Amino acid sequence: MTDMKQEIRRRRTFAIISHPDAGKTTLTEKLLLYGGAIQLAGAVKGKASARHAVSDWMELEKQRGISITSSVMQFEYDGYCINILDTPGHQDFSEDTYRTLMAADSAVMVIDAAKGIEPQTRKLFKVCAMRHIPIFTFINKLDRDARSPYDLIEQLETEFGIGTYPMNWPIGSGADFKGVYDRGEGKILAFTEFHRGANRIQAIECDLTDTAQLDGLIGARLREELQNDVELLDGAGYEFDIEKVQNGELSPVFFGSALTNFGVEPFLKSFLALTMPPLPRRAEEGTVDPFEENFSAFVFKIQANMNKSHRDRIAFMRVCSGRFERDAEYYHVQGGKSLRLAQPQQMMAQSRQIIDEAYAGDIIGIFDPGIFSIGDTVCTRAHKVTYEGIPTFAPEIFAAVERIDTMKRKQFEKGMTEIAQEGAIQIFHAPNSGLEEVIVGVVGILQLEVLEYRLKTEYGVDVRRRMLPYQFVRWIENTDMDLTRLNLGTDSRWVQDFRGNNLLVFGGQWSIRWAEEKNPGLVLREFKQN
Ligand code: G4P
Repeated sequence: MTDMKQEIRRRRTFAIISHPDAGKTTLTEKLLLYGGAIQLAGAVKGKASARHAVSDWMELEKQRGISITSSVMQFEYDGYCINILDTPGHQDFSEDTYRTLMAADSAVMVIDAAKGIEPQTRKLFKVCAMRHIPIFTFINKLDRDARSPYDLIEQLETEFGIGTYPMNWPIGSGADFKGVYDRGEGKILAFTEFHRGANRIQAIECDLTDTAQLDGLIGARLREELQNDVELLDGAGYEFDIEKVQNGELSPVFFGSALTNFGVEPFLKSFLALTMPPLPRRAEEGTVDPFEENFSAFVFKIQANMNKSHRDRIAFMRVCSGRFERDAEYYHVQGGKSLRLAQPQQMMAQSRQIIDEAYAGDIIGIFDPGIFSIGDTVCTRAHKVTYEGIPTFAPEIFAAVERIDTMKRKQFEKGMTEIAQEGAIQIFHAPNSGLEEVIVGVVGILQLEVLEYRLKTEYGVDVRRRMLPYQFVRWIENTDMDLTRLNLGTDSRWVQDFRGNNLLVFGGQWSIRWAEEKNPGLVLREFKQN
């Protein structure tokens, strides 16, 4: 039998985040190539990815298998077992990103060296920072003209308020790009003889004081620049502190070029050496050690209709402790039931495969007959743990959605409920009524467009949308209050979510204050822990 602790120790589970076009797909492909997980570059997914999020989503929809299976990828490298989680680049799906990051132990942020931090990088970084996970930065596209590396790291420090530690330092950029200087090894990694996709990379041990050798290698101007830069870097400011890295306060920065596959492997090696195996997780019962025997996992993502012909629904779980075994019986904490997890699957680039076992750090996809919700815990019955729920983002955009064809009530309600259970949207309705009129709350407008598209293609229902003037929701904590007697402003309304929780929606901040002032004892919460 495989040694469980050894298996867990070699796991690394991380998410890649970037602004669209910075090179996330290309970097992922190159990483998978090192692991031998894919044969062909370009196999990860449609390149245009999040550039036009909806149309791509719809395009990807046609090949759903690909878009979904590529959202979690596992490969082996140098004795490590690596799980990469893909995240949507578009800010309208940042809640999805947040959930994915809940399943990751660290994040890799890809930045375009010519552009620096871009709007989506900002949004995604904030989401990472909320989790305090280690963040590694890969500054990409050095084979093109780039901004000064000092500017780039300064931007990271000032905008994100984190420390940075350049692990290597670029020598020139664009047509002038000569490689990087590896600060730890004291070596130059020379970028030579580039042929599209197959450049030869040479690691050259080089004493920085050996002016003659350096001049031959990179030319006098770049040599002088490099010597000055290294002196500066080694001098002030940049202290490497592994503890800070692990707390997400210091980001190791790597310069490279994913397209030409330059600097990707050294990045991977350092990344693996600096990251930790799966970390302990907080549960209501206390902290759970990943190395303990008892299996536990939580659901971070649910995706319906992945396979059109089967109309299936997959719950993605992050294994947090122990070993998962295919035929064992486990306990679904929120459902209060024991169950066998049908068809446990693992994702490998483009294909899914049924697995017999998985370990802490791994992501497994389980066929979900409609019992799981995001944030649910599955564990060994005798050792019950309940992981902290995943907070729901407060929606900021609201619309009333109704079906056009009155005959399609069943399909409409099914579609709305299932898509809401996935966590792709939030739905509300008038208290104690059915889903005749549904109020949909989202964080980004694209989510509404995707909803309409999915209702049509997956459930055969055409809908009409009417935007509503609400901007805020608050969950009502009180359970003993007569809500029919609430005194509310004209732009406020009492609604319920699909779990039956009571909420208020508001048109403005002031009406939240009004509600609190006019209804003594009313307790409102901004987030709802699932
Ligand atoms: P994304 O997933 O973050 O959205 O980015 P993706 O990897 O799809 O890369 C966006 C574009 O940038 C692609 O070009 C890709 O080839 C290019 N690219 C990625 N890394 C590098 C790099 O290190 N150097 C250079 N010069 N380009 C890079 P495209 O023209 O949109 O696609 P394609 O026609 O090349 O496939």
